[in-house]
Amino acid sequence: MSDLLIYGGKPLNGSVRVSGAKNSVLKMMAASILTKEPCILRNVPNLIDVQRMLELLVDLGTNAKWLEPGTLYLHNPNGISTYGSERLMREMRASILILGPLLARSHKAHVFYPGGCAIGPRPIDLHLKGLEALGASIEKEQGGVLYLYSDGRLKGARIYLDFPSVGATENLMMAAVLAEGRTIIENVAREPEVVELQRFLNTLGANVHGAGTDTIVVEGVEFGQLKGADYTVIPDRIEAGTFLIAGAITGGNVKVYGARADHNEALLYKLHEAGVNLNIGPNFIEVAKGPKARFTPLRIRTMPYPGFPTDLHPQMTALLALADGTSLITETVFPDRFKYVHELIRLGANISVEGECAIVKGVPKLKGAKVEATDLRGGAALVVAALAASGDSTVQKLEHLDRGYENLTEKLLSLGALVERYN
Ligand code: UD1
Repeated sequence: MSDLLIYGGKPLNGSVRVSGAKNSVLKMMAASILTKEPCILRNVPNLIDVQRMLELLVDLGTNAKWLEPGTLYLHNPNGISTYGSERLMREMRASILILGPLLARSHKAHVFYPGGCAIGPRPIDLHLKGLEALGASIEKEQGGVLYLYSDGRLKGARIYLDFPSVGATENLMMAAVLAEGRTIIENVAREPEVVELQRFLNTLGANVHGAGTDTIVVEGVEFGQLKGADYTVIPDRIEAGTFLIAGAITGGNVKVYGARADHNEALLYKLHEAGVNLNIGPNFIEVAKGPKARFTPLRIRTMPYPGFPTDLHPQMTALLALADGTSLITETVFPDRFKYVHELIRLGANISVEGECAIVKGVPKLKGAKVEATDLRGGAALVVAALAASGDSTVQKLEHLDRGYENLTEKLLSLGALVERYN
């Protein structure tokens, strides 16, 4: 178990570069199953989730290696096993993304329900309903095993998602790439990572369009038609947002290279409303202290993209804990995502949770304390809050953050933070 010691109350200053997007690269790794030609992925962050996905693919028979730090080579020239590892699938929700590609390529897949998650139940009914519409039969076996199979190629279909789930959109897009005929998926997720997946699939030779709108159309191609790819992963918008909030909450001046305004509009709008100064450049976003001594309280409602991202709500709660008045944060995507609030309260925040709303009564100061990361983004909120708190804090269970933040300690040190990691 790892701890981060933070000597807080010091403004962050300087510049930092964000790593490649976790939520983008994991899907491209899964998509590499669709082709027998090699895929090279660049700007790949070295994160626990990436390592787990790599292990899962290697276990299926993928020939995989790091060509150099940040550059991953994945190749599936021969048949691929259709049995997903129970341990790895239970450890990581995103492992379910191998389902669509396995079914598309091998016409069968044995997978496990992805394990429970610290931010609440995460069903996969939309993935399964969509795959059934594409012609898959599903057998639910004992012990959470799912066996999906189709009689030859999947068949193009019209699918409507009850909710614009990111994972379901991506799984169905990948499955449809090798289906016979046209698939139309409506009410899809519009996240930048979905657009990137479309771009990656089309680089392989797939015929997908519409990503970024609410309807995606996939014209199926034959397995042998797909090529390889050499592809660079986009910067991580959630990591970028976390550093912008860290700069703002400490009253510092932080320039985040790789942060894209077009991927972070909801956050930038809210930071501006809170009174943070923003400078948006072609390849960076910079935050600086605004004219007011304290942040303006806000109302935030998380929504599928382009709404305010659920993955930045905890960090924003930390910032609003210091606002001059009461803020209301409504979590509509993962309504159970408030476990971290108890820990923020230990740092001196005044927050109560009622159903899917957090009522945040701003306080003038946070105080250092020993706190425990409850999940990836909740943990990020604690780090951000502890950087602003006066006195020393320890954030325990830092390994949650290793799932999504590459070289976090080093990046914070480069911004002048006084932090030490103990493994
Ligand atoms: C992805 C991101 C995660 C982000 C989330 C929402 C990855 C690896 N993870 O997760 O960081 O917080 O999008 O932006 O990309 N749902 C169902 N049935 C389903 C699928 C989803 O009810 O079959 C529900 C979920 O329980 C949740 C909501 O839909 O309440 C959103 O989930 P979804 O968009 O699927 O998130 P993920 O793809 O798991």
